Amino acid sequence: MNIAGVRIAHWGKGSYPPSEDSLLLAQSLVEGGGKFLEVGTGTGIVAIKAATLGYEVTATDMDANALSEASMNAAENGVSIGLVQCDLLECINCTFSMIAFNPPYLPEGGVPDSQLAGGPEGVELALEFMSQAAEHLESGGEVLVVLSSLGNTALFLEQCAMKWDVLPFAARKVEFETLTVYRARLRHPLKK
Ligand SMILES: C[S@@+](CC[C@H](N)C(=O)[O-])C[C@H]1O[C@@H](n2cnc3c(N)ncnc32)[C@H](O)[C@@H]1O
Repeated sequence: MNIAGVRIAHWGKGSYPPSEDSLLLAQSLVEGGGKFLEVGTGTGIVAIKAATLGYEVTATDMDANALSEASMNAAENGVSIGLVQCDLLECINCTFSMIAFNPPYLPEGGVPDSQLAGGPEGVELALEFMSQAAEHLESGGEVLVVLSSLGNTALFLEQCAMKWDVLPFAARKVEFETLTVYRARLRHPLKK
């Protein structure tokens, strides 16, 4: 399949099939040249898009099968991305100008799938990601994170407010939910 100009030939053997949320996040990227980290890369769709836009890309996923498919998809698109098996950013030890995550964002209960369930309110994993991302953002850098209206986005925004300026950047209504890409900048960037 071709999605946001990226050819995805390998998917579904462990990786999350590219979906509306993948497309929304990939389409939110613009040309750049800094260091880009994607957390939870799945097929690599977003990381590969970032590489084609000129970023130096590192991507993580906790699932080894997803990383294997992301590696093959990167090769199909003729780009090079660094791939790391990792829980969120726990094994990352440098800083980035942009960090993106299309996380599992649905409330637990109806969705036993770790690719979809983001905690009891649907935002707990995203909040832990924000906490870790704050330690890995270059001064002036930004975070892009996808959330669903089915999760407790009010809780997410409230918990982020002390540390981050968070604004909706792109949104799309998809059947029974609205997907939103939020852009976050640190209120007081860390000196690194
Ligand atoms: C909704 S999928 C998004 C995949 C891809 N980025 C996209 O947009 O199509 C979420 C991805 O996050 C990964 N993931 C879930 N929890 C994670 C964690 N704690 N650390 C790293 N990756 C995680 C899953 O394996 C999955 O590949």
